[in-house]
Amino acid sequence: MSGDVILDVREMMVSFSARRAGRKYRVQAVDGVSLSLAQGEVLGIVGESGCGKTTVGRTIVGLVQPGSGTIKFKGTEMIGAGSSSLRAMRLNVRMVFQDPNASLNPRRTIGDSVAEAGDISGFFKSRAERSAAIAATLTGVGLNPSFATRYPYELSGGQRQRVGIARAILPTPSIVIADEPVSALDVSVQAQVLNLMMDLRDQLRLSMLFISHDLGVIGQISSRVAVMYMGRVVEQAGTRTVLEHPLHPYTRALVAAIPKPDPSKRILGAIETGEPPSLFTRPHGCAYAPRCPIASDRCLVDVPTLRSVGTDGRTIACHNV
Ligand SMILES: Nc1ncnc2c1ncn2[C@@H]1O[C@H](COP(=O)(O)OP(=O)(O)O)[C@@H](O)[C@H]1O
Ligand SMILES: [Mg+2]
Repeated sequence: MSGDVILDVREMMVSFSARRAGRKYRVQAVDGVSLSLAQGEVLGIVGESGCGKTTVGRTIVGLVQPGSGTIKFKGTEMIGAGSSSLRAMRLNVRMVFQDPNASLNPRRTIGDSVAEAGDISGFFKSRAERSAAIAATLTGVGLNPSFATRYPYELSGGQRQRVGIARAILPTPSIVIADEPVSALDVSVQAQVLNLMMDLRDQLRLSMLFISHDLGVIGQISSRVAVMYMGRVVEQAGTRTVLEHPLHPYTRALVAAIPKPDPSKRILGAIETGEPPSLFTRPHGCAYAPRCPIASDRCLVDVPTLRSVGTDGRTIACHNV
C-alpha cells in the first residue's frame, strides 16, 4: 500500500432541518468530521445508528450538500468544482447503498442499472462494448451475464446487492464508499457479499470507505477504523489497535459488545445500558459524557478535540484517557 492520500475530508459539517413536536429544528448530523483515505486502503467507519455515517458517505459522493468543510479527491477540491471536472471525479468515487431494494429502479433491467454511470458519462464506445462491459461486470460480482435482461423483482436480496456493487464498479472507480452493504441481507449471504467486496478490493485495487454499525464486520475488511459518535470522530486508529486496545470509552463499549462465541464472555457495555443519544438534546460538552463511565466535570462543559496518542497514528477525542 502506498501512503498517497486519495481522499481527504476536512471539517465536514452537515445539518438538516427537522420537525419535532410542531417546532422546526436544525440537527447537526455531521459535526466537523475529518478523514483521509490512502490509495488501496480500506477505512472503516463505525458507530451506532444515527451517528452520521451515511450522511458522511452521501456528502462525499455529492448526494448531500455540506454546510462547510472540504472534500479533496487526489488533491482537487470537489465542493464547488466545475461541472466537467466534478463529473470525472464523481465517476471515480462511487457508492454502494445499504438497501439494494430501495436503490435499484424496479422498472429498469439489471443491465441498464449496471451501465447507468457509463451511459451518463459517455464511457461506452459502442453497443457491443457496452453489452460486453455489463456481462463482464455481472460475472465479476458472481452473477450470470444473462441477468442483464432481468428485473430486480426476479432476484434475491443477495443478488440485488451484487447488482448494487456492479453498478458502483462500472467504469472501475478509484474509491468505493460502501454504506452497510451487508446489513440488509440475510445472515446466510452476508459473508459471501463481504468476501466479494474483499475480492474486488484486491482485484480492482479499490480504496474503500466501509461503513458499518458492526465493529466485527469492520474488523474483517478494514485496515484502519474511525469511530463516530453523534456526528464526530472520537477515535481513529489501525483496526488491530482499535480491536485489541480500544482507548476511548465509547470504542471500549463497542468492542465489548462484539458478539462472542461464548455469550457468557459478552460484556454489556454502555451502549446497551445507557441512554441512546438524541441530536435534539446534544450535550454541551462531550456528547458521550451522559453515558460515559469515566466522565469528569470538565467533560460536561468542554468538547474534547482529536489529539494524537502513541505512535501508530491513533487519534482520540477524550479528556480522560
Ligand atoms: N435527509 C435527511 N433529513 C433530515 N434528517 C436527516 C436526513 N438524513 C439524515 N438525517 C439525520 O441525521 C442524523 C444522522 O443520520 P445518518 O447519517 O443516516 O446516520 P447513520 O448512517 O449513522 O445511521 C440522524 O439523526 C438522521 O435522522
Ligand atoms: Mg446509515
